[in-house]
Formats: sequence, structure tokens, C-alpha cells
Amino acid sequence: MKADVKERVDALLARMTLEEKAAQMVQVPYAMVGREEALRWARRGAGSFLHVLGDDAREIQRAACESRLGIPVLFGIDAVRGHALNDHATVFPTQLACACAWDPELVRRMGRVTAREVAADGLHWTFSPLLCLARDPRWGRVNETFGEDPHLTGELAAALIRGYQGDDLAAPDSILACAKHYLAYGEAVGARDACDSEITWRKAREVFLPPFQRAVDAGCATFMTAYGSLDGTPLTADAHALRDVLRGEMGFEGFVVTDWQNVTSLVDKQHVAADALEASALAAQAGNDMIMSSLEFYESAIRLVREGRLEERVLDEAVRHILSVKVEMGLLEHPEKEGDRACIGCAEHQQTALEAARRSVTLLKNDGVLPIGPQTRRIALIGANADDIRAQVGDWTYFTHPLPDPEHVPVRPYTTIREGMEALCAARGAELTYARGCGAVPSDLDDLDAAVRAAEGAELIVLAVGDEISQVGETKDRADLALSGRQEELLERLLALGIPLITVLLASKPLAIEAAAARANAVVCAFNGGAHGGQAVAEALFGEFNPSGRLPVSFPRHSGQVPVYYNALPGWHPRWGTQESRYCDLPATPLYAFGEGLSYTAFAYDGLTMDAQALTASVRVRNTGHRPGLETVQVYVRDCVSSVLTPVRRLIAFEQVALEPGEERTVRFTFDRMDFSLVNRQEQRVVEPGCFELMIGHSSRDEDLLKTEFTLD
Ligand code: BGC
Repeated sequence: MKADVKERVDALLARMTLEEKAAQMVQVPYAMVGREEALRWARRGAGSFLHVLGDDAREIQRAACESRLGIPVLFGIDAVRGHALNDHATVFPTQLACACAWDPELVRRMGRVTAREVAADGLHWTFSPLLCLARDPRWGRVNETFGEDPHLTGELAAALIRGYQGDDLAAPDSILACAKHYLAYGEAVGARDACDSEITWRKAREVFLPPFQRAVDAGCATFMTAYGSLDGTPLTADAHALRDVLRGEMGFEGFVVTDWQNVTSLVDKQHVAADALEASALAAQAGNDMIMSSLEFYESAIRLVREGRLEERVLDEAVRHILSVKVEMGLLEHPEKEGDRACIGCAEHQQTALEAARRSVTLLKNDGVLPIGPQTRRIALIGANADDIRAQVGDWTYFTHPLPDPEHVPVRPYTTIREGMEALCAARGAELTYARGCGAVPSDLDDLDAAVRAAEGAELIVLAVGDEISQVGETKDRADLALSGRQEELLERLLALGIPLITVLLASKPLAIEAAAARANAVVCAFNGGAHGGQAVAEALFGEFNPSGRLPVSFPRHSGQVPVYYNALPGWHPRWGTQESRYCDLPATPLYAFGEGLSYTAFAYDGLTMDAQALTASVRVRNTGHRPGLETVQVYVRDCVSSVLTPVRRLIAFEQVALEPGEERTVRFTFDRMDFSLVNRQEQRVVEPGCFELMIGHSSRDEDLLKTEFTLD
């Protein structure tokens, strides 16, 4: 901490009463308490509020500034994909969709746009990025992740944090980032949101900690604890996780906020505390600085200190962390972030969101039917998701949070697939018929016969399938990843027409779409592309741009096959007499693998070299097709012999190259020795000398990789 910051914080802390310290640690949920109660909390000196928008924030801030010490409050919001809880703001693709671009710079720009819009609304802090890994697609929050891989997640997280926080936290358009949910929350057993993550600390360090370390290194100002528990200890009560590891080892200097009512949950869900007093003591002692929405913490903390059950210095330390961030970001001088509200949802920002949507489109299968050529005159577009902006944008927008409002009228600009295709068909003189068919959940509007009638006579069918917002998000884990409702039936009936069919997946996560994948002529994955996702899909179908998305997450063939992440540990008993491990009734391989994604051109690799002394590698990549294209060159490593099991391969680097037809480029990589490290049984990250295998290529699939072995001393 800088000396002048420390001095100011100490001076302020010295003037605070016990009550003011306890209040500073409280984050008040605006939507739950209402205006009057919120103003009372502000006058009492509450440290922060969440989910306040617009003029309400200004009124609360005025009250806070008029409190005895006049310490301004921090306004936090889930601006996780743009400032999307504000219905006029720019709505980006979900983190998962953005991750398909494998482009840290693009993600940084998304962070910048978000920061400008959040700051212009007078707010200071976004609860983003989410760094949980999506290793089990049944989990309801897969859409919020950057996918299943620690390295890709870490790279994108660091970029997003830089985008939010800029170079200077005190700049008018910088906001605080929040790395969440610390730790291993996405690994909850059975993908049951917030259940225990049945893993050891060695495993946590190996797989789940690295993205969070990247966040600390990127200067992330705040961390949020997970709802769940790790090996039976709730993260909110885990002094080892928060004090020893996060602050002690990782070097985190910001402040920690709990997740929503995590202190209350210690009593009523996790049963590690008998009452609010015990829970508050546990949380404070574990090292939480700010308590989100468990308002009972305030009275409890005061009483605990008065009764000698909690040392006041524990509160001092927490308040010091909070005040340091407030001072560093200039909050005391400028209680309101000031920006031009006209930037909220402005054309330039929408353009960045459209670019992100385009870059997120991932082509998974193509027998040549795509791009749609000028000879195709009659196209049928089928599926509710092709014309449903709510399903298209998915979770964490003004439709769903903080209080879901199904009646909310979507605010333009946005484009559904239907609108995007209508515009492009009109420009090309092609005819488009649209029929809803069905959505992901049964509805009175479903009409499969009408969809079949609309498709008869078409030269090409585009079928949009996927999920919708009632199947996405917290508390919405799925047991069955197959296409829900009558979507499979709709697919079958359309396939029976014998007309070329393109499946477009508009979904929050990988779904088990094996039938669609096997029998459709093309498969396009769009996930939730945000307000402009429909336009991006339409443009990709017509070849207006060349899709370059790569999957940040593996697709299972079937729900019973999960987890199916690519960086698995070896050891599965092979079938008698073979070298092959598999289920009796299913292959081991995913339907689509991590890193996969096609293009309207093709790339060839050769000339892999690795210099073990210099720790450099290179490979030649050539565009062998007829269109310019963007290739994501992926580098994986395998430790040939190690003291603990290490993944069959894991990503350690990637680089993107834009190549003209026929163009060739040598792509070079420089590694850090720690890129080849593992976490040993003593929980230390070490490099074990010996043989390694380096693999470079187009995706994590074995057949896509060039390989070479090398030795590290
Ligand atoms: C979620 C967090 C979110 C918080 C505030 C919780 O339910 O788990 O990710 O930031 O609510 O809205």
C-alpha cells in the first residue's frame, strides 16, 4: 500500500466508532430493502450498496456524504457482459461466447466499454470477471465462465480486469473489477450450484487457483468468495483460503466481499454456525472484508466485539482494506464517477458488441452448405430462438436481474437471427419464411406442423435450437443436456423433408446435440451473442465474414458422459484386449473438443521446432483455402513422467494469425519454465525435470496436433 494512502486510511480509521466500522463492512441490497431503509443505511455509514441504478444512486450517495464521517459508499453491480442491467446499455455476448474469440484484446475492449457505461451511471464496481471453470456443463452458470481451461480463463480474465480498471483506478472512467467466485465454485459435486467441491487443496492449486493468481497479478481490486465449500469448509469461513493463500501467498491487497447472503448461509444452509453471531465471527475471522446482504452482520459484529468474542482489530483490518481501495480510487474526493451518460449504449459501443458477437460465432460442422450462396433463393428459418431476444441474450441482463421482469419490453437496438436474415435475404433477393416450431420449453405457441409446412419447398432450412432463460443461471442446473421440449422432434421432422439443414445453437452452454451434429449439414454455435448476436449469426451464414470462433469448452455427446473436459488425467481402465478407454455404450471422446472451430478457409501446419534451452518453439501455418481467415494456434504440453498424475495435455499458450489465401507465417512462442510446472503432493508448484511433449496445432484433438518431445534439466 502506498504511504500516503496508508496515512489517510489510518487517520480515518482512528476517528471511526465501532458502529461505523461494522457498517463500513456491510453491503446493502438495494432491491431488497427499498429506498427509505437504504437511506438509513447510508446515514449509518454503510460501506456499499448493490444493484442501484441511476438517480437512486445519487440520492444514496448524498446521504452517505452527509453522514458523520461522510465516507462515500461504493456502488456495486453485476455488469458482467456490459452494463446490461441497465436497459439502455450495451449488451455484449456472455463471457462464454466472448471466450470463443480467444482474443484478450477484444475482451479488454469489452471491459473498457462496460467501465465507461457503468461509471457514467455513477457506479464504481462490477462483480466481474467470473473465473470459475466450466468443467461440468450441467451447472447453471456455465454461460458466465470463460470455459473449462485455466490458462485461457486466466488470459481473458487479466485482459478484462485491465479493461475495467484501466491504468488508474482514479480515472473517471475506471471501475473496480471483482474476481469471483473464489474458489472452485464451478466444481460443485453433481454440478449442483453451491454444493461442496469435493477436491483437495492440491487439486485446487493445480487447476482452480491459476486464473485467480492472474487476477491478482493484473491488480484486481476486489475478490468475491464462493457460495460453496471446498472439502467441507465454506469458502466464506475459510481462513486458509482467504488469509494464508489469497493474501499470504498470492499477494492480494484489495478487499474481499462475500457472495449474496453467504454469512446467513453458514447458519441456514451449510450448518457450520448455530446463529448469526457465530456466523459473523467466523466470516470476519476468516478474512472477509465486506459482507454482501447479510445485514444481520452489523448488529452481530458490534455485539461480538462488545462481549469480547471478536477482537476489534479484526474489524479494523477489514475496514482498512475497504478504505484503502476507496482512497486509491479517489472516491473521497469524487464520490460519483462522472462520465457522459450519452455514452451508455452509444453507437460506438454497440459496434464493439457486434464485433464481439461476430468473433464468438463458432462453426462446428460444414459439409459445404455454408456459406449460403446466391443460388439459394428460398430459405426457411425455424425455431423460437431465432426470434426471441430474451433467449438470445441469456442471463444477467435487465430481463433477469436484479428482479426478473418477464413483461419488460426489450430496448433497441438489438437484432434477432430472424431480423438479421430478413435484412440479408432482402438485399440478395432471396425469400425467407419463418416459423416458430417450438422453443426450448413447451408453450401453447408450439406448432410443429406449421414449421414443417413452412419448410416444405425451401431449398435450405436453418433451425435454431438451444435453451432459454428459465434454464440458465443460478439455481438452474440441468440433469439432462439433451435438447429440451420438442426440439428433437422438430429436428427429426425437418430432417425427414430431405432438405439441407443447418443447426444453429443459441444456448447458454454446450448441449448434447449428437443427433443434430450427425445429421445436419452444418452446425453453428452462437451461445448467447448479446444484443447483436442474431446479426452476427446471419452474417456468418451468408459468408459476410469468415467465422473464426474456437470452443473454450468441450461438448459432451450425452449427459451421462460428463465431465468431458479435454485436460483430463490419464488412467481410465482400457477395455480388455484393447488400448481404448470408453464407456460400454459411448465413446470417450467429446462431440466437439476444446479449441475446435472451422472456417470458410483451411489451415495447414508444419515445421514444428522446440528449443529446450531457450524455451522457444515455432511452427509454420499456411492458409490453404480461398478466403482470408483467422487461425488460433494452440500450444499444449504433456509431462511424460511426473510424481503426480498430470493432464493428457493442457494449454500453455496460443496466438492468432490472420492469413490471406496462400499466405504462410511462422508463429513463435517463448515460454516460462513454470509453464511446465505441476503441483506436487506437498502442494508446491514445481518443475520436475525430464521429458515433456509439446503439441501445437488447430485444436486439442489429437489428430489436429503436431508433436515433439524435449527434455528439461
Ligand atoms: C452471485 C454473484 C453476484 C451476486 C450479486 C450472487 O447470487 O453468485 O455472482 O455477483 O449475486 O448479484
